[in-house]
Amino acid sequence: MTNALKNRQYVFAARPEDQATAARFGLVETDLPEPETGQILCRNLWLSVDPYLRLKMHDRESYTPPLQIGEAIPGTSVAQVVTSTDPAFQAGDLVAIAGGWQEYAVVKASGAQRVDPALSRPESWLGALGMTGFTAYGGLISIGQPKAGETVVVSAAGGAVGSLVGQIARQMGCRVVGIAGGPEKCRRTVERFGFDACVDYRATNFPEALADACPNGIDVYFENVGGRVSAAAMPLLNMFARVPVCGLISQYDGQSGTDPNALEEFMRWVLVRRLTLRGFIVYDLYKNHPEFTQTMAGWLRDGKIREEFNLHQGFDQVVPAFLSMLKGKSFGKTLVQIAEPV
Ligand SMILES: NC(=O)c1ccc[n+]([C@@H]2O[C@H](COP(=O)([O-])OP(=O)(O)OC[C@H]3O[C@@H](n4cnc5c(N)ncnc54)[C@H](OP(=O)(O)O)[C@@H]3O)[C@@H](O)[C@H]2O)c1
Repeated sequence: MTNALKNRQYVFAARPEDQATAARFGLVETDLPEPETGQILCRNLWLSVDPYLRLKMHDRESYTPPLQIGEAIPGTSVAQVVTSTDPAFQAGDLVAIAGGWQEYAVVKASGAQRVDPALSRPESWLGALGMTGFTAYGGLISIGQPKAGETVVVSAAGGAVGSLVGQIARQMGCRVVGIAGGPEKCRRTVERFGFDACVDYRATNFPEALADACPNGIDVYFENVGGRVSAAAMPLLNMFARVPVCGLISQYDGQSGTDPNALEEFMRWVLVRRLTLRGFIVYDLYKNHPEFTQTMAGWLRDGKIREEFNLHQGFDQVVPAFLSMLKGKSFGKTLVQIAEPV
């Protein structure tokens, strides 16, 4: 049975051959089903905009299946329950769900996470308390295993995951060096997130500047970018350094690292410096850290971790927000608010 509500939804319209553009997305109006037993009908309020979506636009093997033409664009959201068939949720409750880029979503109640306003503001369930925050926390602690006094370097440092990695590492007593695009973003990363230093990868002297910022070498390199950014970090890695491989955003949007000698050089450092590299996807690590939500909520409450949101307003801003985030025009976690809670 369909619901009286009409839903607007972004869909995948065409596979990009080079950089993604707005023309790769379509907007359709759909009917909404009535929620069946165990489902909730939710009105999306804040939509998360994430780089992995660009990976899903390629037709190649990844950790998430490629989007098919016409498929609804997925994504996490904070939403408000409109109708519930599950006693665990009532109309008006705030929830974090896999709501997609649409105005309304019908989802399984068992997959919805209650948003507790006593812990933090609702947007945090898409930021520090959500998938983004857990990626930073789980990847750094489980794989990076930083120790007080060590040097932790993180790329895409002004972004959602990177800004949290650096701040968590500071909580653990590490020296923290960020890598980000442009002097202004580097300045803000130091000032707003308390990094010890931040180095501009677009500057011509980037490899030398990174070496200068890491006089004791690098013990943990949290990889968000790949390509020439990681090529500059590799020779600075100390013996037995750890590299959590979280993302390779420099390869996502039409660019590729084509240096034929890069792999050989990379493997040489792995051997010579006895490096540990491990790729991870956020859900691999959830079971390791049942303490995450309380720990992160405590840091936010005590002002030890700061969240920045790159907040766009309006449903028509979802695609522009995504494209500008890919191009580095964001600072902090990119979100789009499409409705107010009632
Ligand atoms: N493994 C997982 O489970 C998992 C989960 C979430 C995110 N991730 C990964 O974490 C990384 C960061 O994601 P996020 O959500 O926090 O996004 P974000 O950092 O908020 O935004 C992406 C940033 O990447 C930088 N960037 C884009 N193209 C680049 C290039 N060619 N070279 C260097 N930097 C580039 C831009 O900042 P600049 O201005 O500094 O260029 C851009 O703002 C991504 O690689 C993502 O895929 C992985």
